[in-house]
Amino acid sequence: MMDFELTDEQRLIRDTAHDFAERELRPRAAERDRTGQFPVEELRALAKLGLLGVNVPEPLGGAAAGAIAYALAMQEIARADASVSVAMAVTNMVAEVIVRFGTEPQAREHVPRLTSGESLAGAFALSEPQAGSDPAAMATTAKRTPSGWRIDGAKQWITSGDHAGLFVVWAKTDPATGARGISAFLVKGNTSGLSCGRREHKMGLNGSSTVPLRFDGCEVGEEALLGGLGQGFKIALAALDGGRIGIASQALGVGRAALEATRTYVKERHQFGRPLAANQAVQFRLADVATELEAARLLTLRAAWRKEQGMPFTREASMAKLYASEATGRACDAAVQLHGGYGYTREYPVERLLRDARVQRIYEGTSEIQRLVIARELLSSERGGGT
Ligand code: CAA
Repeated sequence: MMDFELTDEQRLIRDTAHDFAERELRPRAAERDRTGQFPVEELRALAKLGLLGVNVPEPLGGAAAGAIAYALAMQEIARADASVSVAMAVTNMVAEVIVRFGTEPQAREHVPRLTSGESLAGAFALSEPQAGSDPAAMATTAKRTPSGWRIDGAKQWITSGDHAGLFVVWAKTDPATGARGISAFLVKGNTSGLSCGRREHKMGLNGSSTVPLRFDGCEVGEEALLGGLGQGFKIALAALDGGRIGIASQALGVGRAALEATRTYVKERHQFGRPLAANQAVQFRLADVATELEAARLLTLRAAWRKEQGMPFTREASMAKLYASEATGRACDAAVQLHGGYGYTREYPVERLLRDARVQRIYEGTSEIQRLVIARELLSSERGGGT
């Protein structure tokens, strides 16, 4: 059976996210881009709507609506403001990773705080200054103490790191054994020995904050260990599989915003005595953008569907993230080109969309890393040819 219809619940989540985004996010997205203001109130409002735990069980404060509903909601939020959507994406990823790999007491302690907005945002502390695409090369260590663990090291590019109430932190517990010597820890934002540095000045996503972190003798209890000792690397990669569906969805939201803005513009703007839209060259470019975004949408929803079915989805998530982020890059570039000089100014949204979209080919695994993941599975697994 093949079914392209959404369920009533999926439609409800999508429409709820859409209405909220139109009403509360879109009007101030350009201002957040200009001022860099972190969206505290907006995240609290997302929490109230269940959007900080879309795929998290209800007893933990989530909406329990599944991975497809999450992908749909993420698109709607990103379509209005990608900066808000990235904090939403990482918080959902952190909540989900605790539900999946944490003990019941860990889930009970941390997840409701994330889904309710009490902890405001979750942060994912994996990358380091010298370990980005290759996180197994991390230098942060966690050493045993009589009561738990002592974490020392530095992390880089941590989304929401200066506002997060909870961090998942990856550290080497056995530096001699590479990836198998990495463990994951749950560290509260106010833990002493954890500090964050200056916010990065980025090309886009200015309403989201990105900071480096330092761990100087940061002590946590035994109960902070997430999953088994030495399981951290697999936990990170499994979390990133789901995260990549989120970034693919975010890309789709931004791509749609670019297409919609351009569709309006080319009908209104007249040159040579007719609307831009009357030119076949313009029509063909829009047709290509729309077709690529539709292909990206199907890849993304299929990856989410496989996740929801409990099927392997690593390759599908990487394909979705790779294709959606690259298609959206092309969509935003076309949008700026078709807006002409106006597209290069802040008078129209497409300039911000182009800047916001650029990082989608970089974070949660660069396009090159996605190709590596896809090719490895293609060449090694029984599913080689696909589907
Ligand atoms: N799920 C679970 N386990 C997995 C896995 C997956 N998807 N992929 C691999 N593994 C397991 C392997 O089976 C292997 O286990 P064994 O040792 O038992 O055999 C182990 O993990 C190591 O696997 P590899 O040998 O394949 O590892 P590698 O070092 O070659 O790296 C990689 C693989 C794909 C390159 C990976 O390092 C990677 O994805 N890199 C990119 C990192 C990344 O995406 N960073 C993003 C940072 S977070 C962020 O950006 C958030 C934000 O703020 C928005």
